Amino acid sequence: PEAIMVSELANRMAERVGDVVKSLMQMGMMVTQNETIDADTAELIIEEFGHNVTRVSDADVEDVIKEVEDKPEDLEQRPPVITIMGHVDHGKTSLLDAIRNAKVVAGEAGGITQHIGAYQVKTDAGATLTFLDTPGHAAFTSMRSRGAQVTDIVVLVVAADDAVMPQTVEAINHAKAAKVPMIVAINKIDKPAANPDKVRTDLLQHEVIVEKMSGEVQDVEVSAMTGQGLDDLLEAIALQAEILELKANPNRAAVGAVIEAQLDVGRGPVATVLVQNGTLRQGDIFVVGEQYGKVRALIDDQGNRVKEAGPSVPVEVLGLNGTPEAGDVLNVTETEAQAREIASYREQAAKDKRAAAGAATTLEQLMANA
Ligand code: GTP
Ligand code: MG
Repeated sequence: PEAIMVSELANRMAERVGDVVKSLMQMGMMVTQNETIDADTAELIIEEFGHNVTRVSDADVEDVIKEVEDKPEDLEQRPPVITIMGHVDHGKTSLLDAIRNAKVVAGEAGGITQHIGAYQVKTDAGATLTFLDTPGHAAFTSMRSRGAQVTDIVVLVVAADDAVMPQTVEAINHAKAAKVPMIVAINKIDKPAANPDKVRTDLLQHEVIVEKMSGEVQDVEVSAMTGQGLDDLLEAIALQAEILELKANPNRAAVGAVIEAQLDVGRGPVATVLVQNGTLRQGDIFVVGEQYGKVRALIDDQGNRVKEAGPSVPVEVLGLNGTPEAGDVLNVTETEAQAREIASYREQAAKDKRAAAGAATTLEQLMANA
């Protein structure tokens, strides 16, 4: 990070590359636009062009986006975030559809979930729950590896006519690694071939001991088809959430995690963000991973434009300069300069890291070939 490419420097100052190269030549430095110069030289150039110098370091980044510890009296209850996991076709999306009274499965290509759906549901008992439907576990893993712990509770869906399958085991391992409490939903109980006790005994082999086997993991028999047991499942979730005492401070700058993001032809880069603390508002300036932006619009899970999104609310965010990655953390900053600086600092750091990794492999290859 102590060096910058000449073209990049020109770009950041919004000056012509040729002018910067010329200026460097006048200082006695013969460099092309694709070469890097050290930070001190860059600083001289920046001053030469009449711009202000701001050098960003890890410490500066942390200073701007530091996790302010919320005072206990500022904390308010927030909805739990529940991730639905399980083997392919065991009924994750159907179950969520049944809970939401929606028909997402019907609209999916081949009935296979391709992206993460994030929805909020209000139960009859008046509780608000945030659900994430996962296409597989890759997204979950990538989010965790990026340090974004987004889920409070995992609902493990196991089809009663199929019992524990490879992806069921993966989901169990993910939940355990993330230390997230699990609730087992034994689905498709309406099927003649349903054998819920086989599910329970299968789970024992993976050290998941459900309540019916005198363990501590709540298990509920459900049918996404008939709606049987759905209320029990919601009750189990509410109970688990109560134990967790989930809280956040809605009255602070927002912190969130990217659930998914893509480049939309009409709308530009769009990120689905789960707000984890604070409130995200239209007009907020933010940095998210190596990208930054200003919230142009927020769209809720029903497709409606909203002015703000508080803790545990999933929203689509428009107004990004580029497409972030799942698991990237979003922080609202005070100024656009801060957001831009942090984003480009991170981008450069990532580039340096890749370059270093590349150099290491070539060196290794050289050694191996020698
Ligand atoms: P992926 O997203 O591909 O991993 O699948 P999924 O787990 O989301 O499963 P999905 O909800 O798409 O359901 C798979 C199939 O099982 C569909 O044909 C559903 O209609 C059927 N199904 C889901 N739940 C039930 C149920 O409770 N009873 C019966 N009989 N069929 C169900
Ligand atoms: Mg699905």
